[in-house]
Amino acid sequence: MNSEHVLVTGTTSGVGRALLELYARHGAKIISVNRRRDLELEARYPSVRFECVDVRSAPEVERLIRCLADSGELPDIFILNAGVNEIDNDERFELSSFRTVIETNLYGVLNFVSPLVQLPTDSRARHLVAVSSMANYVGNPYGLGYTTSKRALTTCFETWQRMYSGTDLVFQLVMLGPVRTAIFTMEKRLPAWMVSVKHAFTVSLAGTALAIRRFAATRRPRLFHPFRAIPLYFAIWLCQLLVPGFFRGRKTLAGKTRRTKTGEQNAVR
Ligand SMILES: NC(=O)c1ccc[n+]([C@@H]2O[C@H](COP(=O)([O-])OP(=O)(O)OC[C@H]3O[C@@H](n4cnc5c(N)ncnc54)[C@H](OP(=O)(O)O)[C@@H]3O)[C@@H](O)[C@H]2O)c1
Repeated sequence: MNSEHVLVTGTTSGVGRALLELYARHGAKIISVNRRRDLELEARYPSVRFECVDVRSAPEVERLIRCLADSGELPDIFILNAGVNEIDNDERFELSSFRTVIETNLYGVLNFVSPLVQLPTDSRARHLVAVSSMANYVGNPYGLGYTTSKRALTTCFETWQRMYSGTDLVFQLVMLGPVRTAIFTMEKRLPAWMVSVKHAFTVSLAGTALAIRRFAATRRPRLFHPFRAIPLYFAIWLCQLLVPGFFRGRKTLAGKTRRTKTGEQNAVR
């Protein structure tokens, strides 16, 4: 019997769902944390314990952790994956959507860490795996809140990796590159060639889930997945350094495409 005991947040779609399917296939004991109920998913995986918790709510998350700790059902692996992305940049910037992104992507992880680090130490290692992004290094031009949240999340985890080094609390960071999911909605805002380049580096959900599961079984601090996307992010970083306003300026390719598309839409209307 598989002894893996894992909690995954955000399993109704994308990476989280692929993780749920993978762990279930391997007979792991799973706790799935979602902000809404998905009856179809629950029916398909009757052995999974589904918890309806909005990760933005610190009291709700704390209650869940306390309940699991009291009943001796605290998992060994926490994959803190739930995340959102909203378009916010110098074209459109709304504090409410910025807040939602920060509260979900950053506090949605910290809310788990806070009660877990206060629990009495145990002889078994507990792995806290945060799903961050390679966009952390180069920025996401259409997601100010997204970039900020992933940067802060990465910094917190790097700090805890140093603080808790050699203890039973293992902090691990997944730096994801492009993965085929519903989260990125800004492709229509990019020039076609940029979308094609991005697609060439995009990887499957199944491969991503496999890489994360293998990584969580180690004590390694960081996983870059897919590794081959690193040159892409380096090129984006270099372009931003060398071409002023590469993404944002009115004269940039992205800006031009945006204006053309907006013009076309207005013409259709
Ligand atoms: N896809 C990529 O290319 C990529 C690249 C880098 C990093 N990432 C990171 O990977 C993680 C997973 O993203 P994904 O691509 O799989 O996106 P996704 O398909 O949109 O899945 C996001 C999941 O998070 C859940 N969620 C959102 N807000 C929540 C909340 N407040 N409480 C509980 N659950 C919540 C969503 O639930 P609902 O169904 O209710 O919305 C959904 O299950 C995210 O942290 C993302 O930033 C993704």
